[in-house]
Amino acid sequence: MELLQTIEKRASVRKYLNDQVPLTDLEEMVRRAGLSPSVNNSQPWKFIAISNRSLLDQMAQAVEARLQEMMPDADSHAQSAIKTTVEYFSTFFRDAPAVIAVAMQPYEAIIDKLMNARSSGHEDINRLRSYPDIQSIGAAVQTLLLSAVDLGYGACWLSGMLVAQEKLQKLLQIADPWKLMAFVAVGKAAVMPQKRDKKALQQIFVHIP
Ligand SMILES: Cc1cc2nc3c(=O)[nH]c(=O)nc-3n(C[C@H](O)[C@H](O)[C@H](O)COP(=O)(O)O)c2cc1C
Repeated sequence: MELLQTIEKRASVRKYLNDQVPLTDLEEMVRRAGLSPSVNNSQPWKFIAISNRSLLDQMAQAVEARLQEMMPDADSHAQSAIKTTVEYFSTFFRDAPAVIAVAMQPYEAIIDKLMNARSSGHEDINRLRSYPDIQSIGAAVQTLLLSAVDLGYGACWLSGMLVAQEKLQKLLQIADPWKLMAFVAVGKAAVMPQKRDKKALQQIFVHIP
């Protein structure tokens, strides 16, 4: 598929056919994501593809339990409607044929060590540089999404489920210093979502000649 067509076709797909995503396709999506730019070519990522129904169910249950802890008093109609919405957007992945978890190894540049000794800590420096490792993960996830579309799938980026980060890391055996950063649900689209409105070019672009 042409790049422009792929970019324009991409939309967050949350309803999937039951068809499995073959391992070769998951591998190809991740291979392409691995070609993304990263700070100092650190490639601070690891991708864990989950097609196991029982594990996906355990993950969704962990998210539900955490949301229940966080919103125990959603009594009124309005509150419970919000809770239902949040729950849906954080757990629909349960029915996806595959979910790819993206983990990050926090990046520490050589310069951090020098600066650490003088003034601020790694976290301060990282904040000043607007988290280049997290930016790198964003680049990889976008490449993953576009590759999924190019290979004929629908996909959706998820971060809402990270409310249960600790439990999810245990379930996926992700150990320190690695940190879960995002998930991508993938499958053949059962329903193509309505295209979301996007800002016009004039609203997002400034040219300084
Ligand atoms: C960092 C990030 C986190 C997101 N987390 C979720 C999520 O937890 N659940 C979900 O259903 N969609 C999630 N999305 C998808 C957005 O809701 C979606 O991209 C946005 O509404 C625009 O729609 P579009 O992707 O169809 O253009 C996330 C997207 C990004 C970039």
